[in-house]
Amino acid sequence: MSQFIVYQDKNVKAKGLTKNNIINETKLKDYFYESDYDNLHLLETIPPFELNVPVPTLFYPGCGVDILFPLHYINSLLSHKKEINFLFMDTENCLGMIKTILDEIGISFSAKKNAIDFYWNNTKVHLAFQIGNVFTHIDSLPLFHIYFERAFRIMRDEFPLYEEKIIEKLYSNGIVISDSGFQAQNLTVIEVPKILSSYHEMIIGIKALKR
Ligand SMILES: C[S@@+](CC[C@H](N)C(=O)[O-])C[C@H]1O[C@@H](n2cnc3c(N)ncnc32)[C@H](O)[C@@H]1O
Repeated sequence: MSQFIVYQDKNVKAKGLTKNNIINETKLKDYFYESDYDNLHLLETIPPFELNVPVPTLFYPGCGVDILFPLHYINSLLSHKKEINFLFMDTENCLGMIKTILDEIGISFSAKKNAIDFYWNNTKVHLAFQIGNVFTHIDSLPLFHIYFERAFRIMRDEFPLYEEKIIEKLYSNGIVISDSGFQAQNLTVIEVPKILSSYHEMIIGIKALKR
């Protein structure tokens, strides 16, 4: 049976930063396709990351309105981190819809210009949303510790050396989490269930330390 996810930006107002969020699992499920939601438990089969940096930065280009997948990955693989920075970039302004999703599932946030702060379980998330074309911004991007990609394969296939440029911007020991590509890059690949990607190409890899 086909399933639709309804996205409607409700222009929600910030209710403030609080640790005491109660996630509404029914609402949360409404933002996932059933098979994707069912597959989330597979993240428990992946060993947590060793990332020796107090506040890592995760870069997610072509994020669209997807806030929930990176949060589930971080919660499962970096749950010991007290704080994390998310840098999201998309050609469309999706921050309003991301705020709506958080509000609807019971996550309260504070907001300032193009950024929001909230708690996801015990981790404080600082999310900065940048409207922009990743291909034109790629050279001026700051370095990041985690690269996250989902459903962006068609767009970035058009851009030569995209993966190489992303790896350049990743700190040594940084992590690539992608549902496609990066097979030819010099990464220490962790075995993960391929079914976590709708292309069946899920990859999680660590950039080797420079010698
Ligand atoms: C298929 S959607 C995937 C959205 C999200 N990653 C997900 O899994 O739901 C692709 C997204 O990439 C964005 N996009 C396309 N070209 C882009 C570019 N050059 N730079 C940044 N974002 C781009 C689109 O606006 C859209 O939100």
